[in-house]
Amino acid sequence: TGRKVLICSDSVSALYSIQSGSSHTFRRRCVSHSRRFIGENTEVVGEQSLTPELRLRLFTPSCRFWTERPELWPYEDPYWAIYWPGGQALSRFLLDHPAVCRGQTVLDLGSGCGASAIAAILCGAAHVVANDIDPMAAVATHMNSELNGLQPPVCLTHNIMGSPPAAFHLILLGDMFYDQSLATSLHSWLNRCMETHGTKVLIGDPGRAQFEEHAIRRLLRPLAQFELPDSVREENYGLSCSGVWSYTPEL
Ligand SMILES: C[S@@+](CC[C@H](N)C(=O)[O-])C[C@H]1O[C@@H](n2cnc3c(N)ncnc32)[C@H](O)[C@@H]1O
Repeated sequence: TGRKVLICSDSVSALYSIQSGSSHTFRRRCVSHSRRFIGENTEVVGEQSLTPELRLRLFTPSCRFWTERPELWPYEDPYWAIYWPGGQALSRFLLDHPAVCRGQTVLDLGSGCGASAIAAILCGAAHVVANDIDPMAAVATHMNSELNGLQPPVCLTHNIMGSPPAAFHLILLGDMFYDQSLATSLHSWLNRCMETHGTKVLIGDPGRAQFEEHAIRRLLRPLAQFELPDSVREENYGLSCSGVWSYTPEL
């Protein structure tokens, strides 16, 4: 039932968070249920993104729910089953410039399928945390790390922006400027991380209106711009490029 799924999804969250309280066996069962669901409702995809070297389990036209009635989907909207253009540009940039992550502690905030966290691990980051408030994203990130032959990053599912500024060398934000109020909360939390810990911030975005019109936009320095592959353009009506910026304000 919907309630069971909800309880199960909360337990998945607890398993991937530091504050876990539920029974170990129950939590394991929920994670294995979520893994099975992801395995049955996604497809392993490689070549069609800006990072063909990464294999990811994603939502494609051959998946059942591409045509199934959406109300039958038992979880939150599956943002973790899409490799967003902003995350693609960010991951491409990291893989092209591995020194950016090498030896660094890295937080991928709003990690979705986990691709940018995986790219950071491949680049030799010292410690990688993937944070997403959707607990299914943590399960997907584990599965995608394994697909690429990697130990998964630490996955946290609480709202990290409600916590004191995090002590990371680098924070990655792939396609996180799709909602004005989220962008504003992010902006002030990033400022606190930079002021407190001197954290560096990299942002990947395909030029969404909410990003272009946000106050943070004029404080960004462009680092790279990528043309999106045809299949990514088709899935993201009207988008043709995706860029990477560094956030370097005078605080
Ligand atoms: C557009 S997707 C981007 C996913 C990934 N970075 C990419 O580029 O493929 C945004 C993600 O942010 C997550 N998210 C939204 N609000 C969040 C928050 N306050 N803290 C952490 N994650 C959040 C969503 O669950 C979703 O997975």
